[in-house]
Amino acid sequence: MAETKDGTVWSEDDSQHFIDYGAYFVPERDVQIDTIVSVIPPADGAVHMLELCSGEGLLAEALAARFPNATIHAYDGSEAMLASTAGKLAGHGDQHTTKLFDLADTSWRRFDQPFHAVVSSLAIHHLDDAGKAQLSKDIAAALAPGGVFVICDLVEPQTDETKVLWARHWDDGVRERSLTLDGNEKMLDFFREDEWNHYGVPEPDPVDQPSTLFDQLTWLKEAGLTDVDVHWLKAGHAIFSGRKPG
Ligand SMILES: C[S@@+](CC[C@H](N)C(=O)[O-])C[C@H]1O[C@@H](n2cnc3c(N)ncnc32)[C@H](O)[C@@H]1O
Repeated sequence: MAETKDGTVWSEDDSQHFIDYGAYFVPERDVQIDTIVSVIPPADGAVHMLELCSGEGLLAEALAARFPNATIHAYDGSEAMLASTAGKLAGHGDQHTTKLFDLADTSWRRFDQPFHAVVSSLAIHHLDDAGKAQLSKDIAAALAPGGVFVICDLVEPQTDETKVLWARHWDDGVRERSLTLDGNEKMLDFFREDEWNHYGVPEPDPVDQPSTLFDQLTWLKEAGLTDVDVHWLKAGHAIFSGRKPG
């Protein structure tokens, strides 16, 4: 995978960490997945969908279940994550594909067919501003007319006041899930020790490079997408999309 400016990369250990703690640390995960899938327009006949950085495959599985005529192409930079995604898709037909890739590279951005939807959850913040703007252009070019690019990601606050609020809201959500799932606050303690809260730690992990929501909506528009909209936002995690005209 591509290195950030200080040489850090997302590792297989990071992937396992995310699998282990995602249920506690990702805000309203079920709502996120349902929102992403619900933003995609109904598909007429067989269509192709691309997921960038599919992780363990929860979203890919939801896509395959909601769109039984779709072929899902799931890309990730982790062998372990791709194996997990393939396992989740296995119960939904055998036409789906997985591919090892580096999100920051551009050589994978040529496709055999246009996509009805391209989705990505909690990963595009590993690209810098220029990388996100270029990705918006490349995905806009890869969409079929009427197709959508749906992004769920950490976004950077515009003000310190918002940053403090998002840090608190993220902690509150983790406390609630820790109490609901385990009956105690131990996972909130670990969330803090592990310095997972991007908005609440003095030196966030340099692998995380979120951009403002305003900039990201602008890049979608500049890429020629329309109906650019925000569908959900909680504790700095936003779901937004743009549609290819036609
Ligand atoms: C925080 S996890 C999110 C996983 C999944 N999309 C979800 O929402 O549960 C980030 C994912 O992005 C992948 N990833 C991170 N940096 C990447 C890169 N530069 N190229 C390809 N995959 C990358 C990781 O392997 C991991 O599966």
